[in-house]
Amino acid sequence: MTGFRRDAQDHAVLGSLRLSQVIREAEVELPAYVYDVDGMTETLRSLRYAFGDAAHLVAYAIKANSAGTVVRAFAAEGAGIDAVSGTEVELALACGVPAKQVVMSGVAKTDAEIDLALSKGILAMQAESVEELLRIQARARATGHRADVSLRLNPGIEIDTHSHIATGHDAAKFGISESDLPAAYAAIDGSEGRLSQVGLSVHLGSMMTTTESYAISAKKLCQLARERRPYAPQLKYIDFGGGFGIDYGSAPSEPPAAFASTCVSTLRAAGLSDLTIVVEPGRSLVAPYGVLVARVVQTKRSGERRWVMISAGMNDLIRPALYAAKHRIEPVEGAPQEPQWRVVGPVCESSDDFGSHPLGAEPSGLVVIRDAGAYGYVMASEYNGRALPSEVFLRGGKIVSVSKSPGRAAWLERRLGA
Ligand code: LLP
Repeated sequence: MTGFRRDAQDHAVLGSLRLSQVIREAEVELPAYVYDVDGMTETLRSLRYAFGDAAHLVAYAIKANSAGTVVRAFAAEGAGIDAVSGTEVELALACGVPAKQVVMSGVAKTDAEIDLALSKGILAMQAESVEELLRIQARARATGHRADVSLRLNPGIEIDTHSHIATGHDAAKFGISESDLPAAYAAIDGSEGRLSQVGLSVHLGSMMTTTESYAISAKKLCQLARERRPYAPQLKYIDFGGGFGIDYGSAPSEPPAAFASTCVSTLRAAGLSDLTIVVEPGRSLVAPYGVLVARVVQTKRSGERRWVMISAGMNDLIRPALYAAKHRIEPVEGAPQEPQWRVVGPVCESSDDFGSHPLGAEPSGLVVIRDAGAYGYVMASEYNGRALPSEVFLRGGKIVSVSKSPGRAAWLERRLGA
């Protein structure tokens, strides 16, 4: 059985293993991320199944969790990759993802990154401005390539999410607004074949818990594709973006399959069924299948207030500090119980605060921070002289890989040498 649960003795279990046992066996320093890779691949499979016989590519947003074990597992299941840097492109290819299943987004692709994408022959660079299109054209000419591009539309749609993770509204730096599309088309059509438009894309932002906005944007994209097609015979895919939400414990979210169905029905209704559907989910494939395990360092009481200081901080998991995100925190052994404790980390910032959680009369031992499989390790830093966290990967009820924290000594050596 995949995912997080508690067994009959109230031990926290991930995949089919008790977390206490995993931490002992892996012999890693805490804090440590633990991932149930089977849960991730099962979710990918059910998403792919929901497309039925519609031609599709799940371009996993590798930024969400770029661990090689995860990316290789997805590659083996036929996933593609949405990369946002040259390094992510190289990682995807090194993990066995075919170049023709890699798309590259990003508002500030450097010339070196454009050259890399051209030389590797990826499916498309998704251009986010007319200026960038012209730069891609110049690099294609300089290096003797034809550049396959997609245009990322900014549809001007506000979604109901934290402002830091909304990308498809008018004031966002992302994508090409509809009013600038004619200039983008003109750049492609006037490029003497250097630019070939193979796709049309969009990404509204993250944590959409219903398909409502996604459907509106999908319809808009299909309408634009229909208008553009007569002039862009190479157009072969529509990329509806990622952003599928998950339930962090306080609000349900529609499953990834619901977003897939939205894509299929919108494409069919527009009479574009011969085009390939691309989607770019990150979080929904990995977040529920990763946890961060930390140790209780001490408790602190002052009047009515109660804190639990744990060994993980905002440097290990920045989502609460950056987006006011709430991740459930529970004891690794023993059921979550009142009273509530304010859980805080060791970092010298007031925002190093994970919110209130039911950790019982006198918290001690290990705690688990749930739904940390996306935007966790990848956003970690070494702030305050803290080493990057460890990572442990589970498959088939076993530990299959361990990536140990580089440790304090490595930190000291690097800073001394700076
Ligand atoms: N495609 C593009 C072009 C993106 O920029 C992103 C995420 C995705 C796909 C995947 O979105 P997802 O399915 O994971 O929502 N650090 C934030 C999330 C930032 C997302 C950035 N772009 C967080 O922890 O909530």
